[in-house]
Amino acid sequence: MSSRRFPKGFRWGASTSALQVEGATAAEGRGESIWERFAARPGAIEDGSTPAVACDHYHRFREDVGRMAELGLTAYRFSIAWPRVVPEGTGAVNAKGLDFYDRLVDALLEHGIAPYATLYHWDLPQALQDRGGWADRAIVPAFVEYTRAVTERLGDRVGSWSTINEPWCIAVLGHEEGKQAPGLSDPPTGLAVAHHLLLAHGEAVPVIRTNAPEAEAGIVLNLVPAEPAEDTGAARNAVRWFDGFFNRWFLDPLLRGRYPEDAVADRVQCEHLPPSGMPFAQEGDLDVISRPIDFLGVNYYSRAVFDADENGEPVGVTVGTPERRNDMGWEDFPPGLHRILVRLHREYDVARIYVTENGGAWSDAPDADGRVRDHRKIHYLHGHLHAALDAIDEGVPLKGYFAWSLLDNWEWAHGYPMRFGFYWIDYETQRRVAKNSALWYRDVIAHHGVDDDVVLPS
Ligand code: FCB
Repeated sequence: MSSRRFPKGFRWGASTSALQVEGATAAEGRGESIWERFAARPGAIEDGSTPAVACDHYHRFREDVGRMAELGLTAYRFSIAWPRVVPEGTGAVNAKGLDFYDRLVDALLEHGIAPYATLYHWDLPQALQDRGGWADRAIVPAFVEYTRAVTERLGDRVGSWSTINEPWCIAVLGHEEGKQAPGLSDPPTGLAVAHHLLLAHGEAVPVIRTNAPEAEAGIVLNLVPAEPAEDTGAARNAVRWFDGFFNRWFLDPLLRGRYPEDAVADRVQCEHLPPSGMPFAQEGDLDVISRPIDFLGVNYYSRAVFDADENGEPVGVTVGTPERRNDMGWEDFPPGLHRILVRLHREYDVARIYVTENGGAWSDAPDADGRVRDHRKIHYLHGHLHAALDAIDEGVPLKGYFAWSLLDNWEWAHGYPMRFGFYWIDYETQRRVAKNSALWYRDVIAHHGVDDDVVLPS
């Protein structure tokens, strides 16, 4: 059977985030985060669970790093919990919190696994939320101070730093739709939050450069390619709207130093904002936001398809067969990844790209013989790795791929039933079982490539 190889030096990774795997939310001086507070709200989390234990990775990180080594990972993307490092959000640094990441980074390096650190993956210290959180511009210097504390300690060993994970989710799901912490439902606040996230990113970049001069600095966006349900002007306009609201709202300020005019006009009209739309944006902010970065991380899960209703308002449309949807309802659509990567290269000229998350949730559990036959996930990964190779063949500077996720973990407002990991977890005992997808990925890494057809482990 023929197979395709990835370029030399291509990084093979898996991703997690602190809150989703660590547990130990009250250990060794860690402060409360907005997610524990949000999870305590009745009905906020679908299964009523909390992240208090999660995968207990805080205590089991050494054995988990051993699993990464068994898979042959050459890179691991994790996040650092701000409330572990600066429990009150500003002020005193908790040395024990930093010690944990210090040990984790050393364990990775001992196994030859490159650490890819994300500074903010959604777990804001509650103390900062009590003072306004991301809606208040004062959070920007707080993030810079936190970045300084972390990079002073780890900058000598971590070669890749991402500032923020998925600002769209933080701003929109957290502040406009109330679906994620801190659970606010106020669109104008969401716009301010998005701006302050981007500004905090831009102000943190020079701090990373000072404390980790050899390292690369970037940011991670979730990008969703959209297409019209039918070839009408109204459907195409709905796609333009979605693309502005979801993708260009972040890509354009970061990479072109300006907000997309059409999308700003859409938001001003839709939220009845003052004509400027952005009272929170100050002179010079966009210069800070668009400071040069070394890479862009792309989280890709699926596409969006849009039509317009009889008033011309955009409506999302469900397409494809149910079999191609995972437990989150997301469609397995590899061409979308190819499309996004090629677009970043051609339209934004991004110098270095990583796929920092890609995957899906399937509920496959151990069979009678103990094997987890998560074959839909293998098909998903296989298709997306081919899409990545197609993009590389067209000149896209894609330098690595991180599957989401290493372990089944706490999937935010969905709780524990959404299982995205290479390792199945029995949450009663914390027993981990390598799924067939883990064995398959191990072979892909060993061969530095993928076969044309899927070869399933037994
Ligand atoms: C992304 C998040 C990640 C995980 C996946 C499924 O939006 O960055 O933490 O929840 O979705």
